[in-house]
Amino acid sequence: MDFIEELRRRRTFGIISHPDAGKTTLTEKLLLFGGAIQIAGAVKSNKIKRSATSDFMEIERQRGISVATSVMAFDYKGLKINILDTPGHQDFAEDTYRTLTAVDSVIVVIDVAKGVETQTEKLVEVCRMRNTPIIVFINKLDREGKEAFDLLDEVEQKLGIKVRPLSWPIGMGQRFKGVYSMFEQKLVLFRPHSKQEDEDTVEITDLNDEALEQHIGARDAAELRAEVGMVEGVYPEFRREAYLNGQLSPVFFGSAVNNFGVRELLDCFTLIAPEPLARHTEERLVEPDESRFSGFVFKIHANMDPNHRDRVAFMRVCSGTFERNKPYLHVRQNRKIKFSNPTSFMADKKTVVDEAFPGDVVGLYDSGNFKIGDALTEGESLHFKGIPSFSPEQFRYVNNADPLKSKQLAKGLEQLMDEGVAQLFTRDADGRKIVGTVGALQFDVLAYRLQHEYGASVNYEAVNLYKACWITCPKEAVMKEFLQRRRREIAHDKEGQRVFLAESAWQLKTVQENFPDMEFHFTSEY
Ligand code: G4P
Repeated sequence: MDFIEELRRRRTFGIISHPDAGKTTLTEKLLLFGGAIQIAGAVKSNKIKRSATSDFMEIERQRGISVATSVMAFDYKGLKINILDTPGHQDFAEDTYRTLTAVDSVIVVIDVAKGVETQTEKLVEVCRMRNTPIIVFINKLDREGKEAFDLLDEVEQKLGIKVRPLSWPIGMGQRFKGVYSMFEQKLVLFRPHSKQEDEDTVEITDLNDEALEQHIGARDAAELRAEVGMVEGVYPEFRREAYLNGQLSPVFFGSAVNNFGVRELLDCFTLIAPEPLARHTEERLVEPDESRFSGFVFKIHANMDPNHRDRVAFMRVCSGTFERNKPYLHVRQNRKIKFSNPTSFMADKKTVVDEAFPGDVVGLYDSGNFKIGDALTEGESLHFKGIPSFSPEQFRYVNNADPLKSKQLAKGLEQLMDEGVAQLFTRDADGRKIVGTVGALQFDVLAYRLQHEYGASVNYEAVNLYKACWITCPKEAVMKEFLQRRRREIAHDKEGQRVFLAESAWQLKTVQENFPDMEFHFTSEY
């Protein structure tokens, strides 16, 4: 197969959901279809439950699992499908945001009973910012839940996306009989508890066909006809173009745990999902079919083995062919590096890869050279865009608890910040260090890892802060005045960028009003 054929057959996507909606279960069923795993239960959930916060080994173990399941690849109908895993725990939402920079499309899983939940809203917002194509899978139809039309309204309102059902449920809970696939014009019948591998499907090209009554009974047949009629009337026609532009999301219904409706979802995905897309850099647009290799690091993970301090940097290939043992330019460090053991991770296996193509994700062993967003190329200086840090919402002073280990602490903080565990700010007025995170659990992870991987210990101290936002100003004089007047609230991030530390929403608002020329940014990318 030549380069272009390899490229054309890649589909790289992520599954996002609120914890417990069924992401792990759906991933597993997709892998079963692809033959990548043979038995159910092989994919471990990377959920980090709240109760695990006191048990740091448990956190580490679960982080380990999430390394193994970071990228799951399988072949299906001639395509190579890469699923990029996203942490379910909301305290690691930032990891998920960054992973979303490395996918070309997403599947959003929604629990039919719970509807759209907060985590899903936030993640979809990130997708919307980039016009990432979205398919919606409404899960757990074997349980009682919300009415389909109500749920679709909720999805449109809360997620701010336009939808188009491509399958329609027949009843739900105890009365769940299956789905009618408008995409393939067939009836797929649900047999509860059968754990069927192959679904019972009936070709029905015309819903007025009397065969419908035979299969689902007169009442459900009438209801289905009426509802599908309404769907056709209310929702726009499905157009792939609109989906690819992020303007229209097809919706499927099913029950992942029963492996029901999953094949319809996957078959549609293979027909409509985008091939590897071009990526923006500060310099230019990088097209996947360019012959020269380029890629960027979107996630860094510490090695689980305490005897090996090295880390794994996950790199998405954006263009050209990545080859083992070939020297590539590490753009930020301006030096060549080659990789003797680039790795692909799959469930509990890892294998060394000799080459990788656009859309693929490769794990690179790293002893501290990489940070998130770093580019590798064949020589060109490229800086990939769209890998933001988000303005953190929880803050603590971090103090060195062991003066003999200050070097270790500095190194540990530096490296863990590169990994994106948290963000570090240094206040200009007094030089105090403040750690900012998106979720509280990250403080525990940081302290634990500093201790276990670097031998440094820290203690935290409460600090009353509401938000840290990056500041810029086109007028130098205004910036100067701002820096003088708000001296006590100014800090620098690790890259030396200026940050304003707001104590409250009210204070932030007042400051914004008083300094209309100042620009406040809530992601580090501006
Ligand atoms: P997540 O990764 O999105 O957090 O969710 P996960 O797949 O772990 O699923 C959360 C729970 O929902 C699991 O139950 C799972 O079995 C169940 N589930 C998934 N799909 C369906 C479905 O279609 N119908 C029903 N009724 N349940 C579903 P659990 O009790 O937390 O775990 P387990 O002991 O069953 O593994």
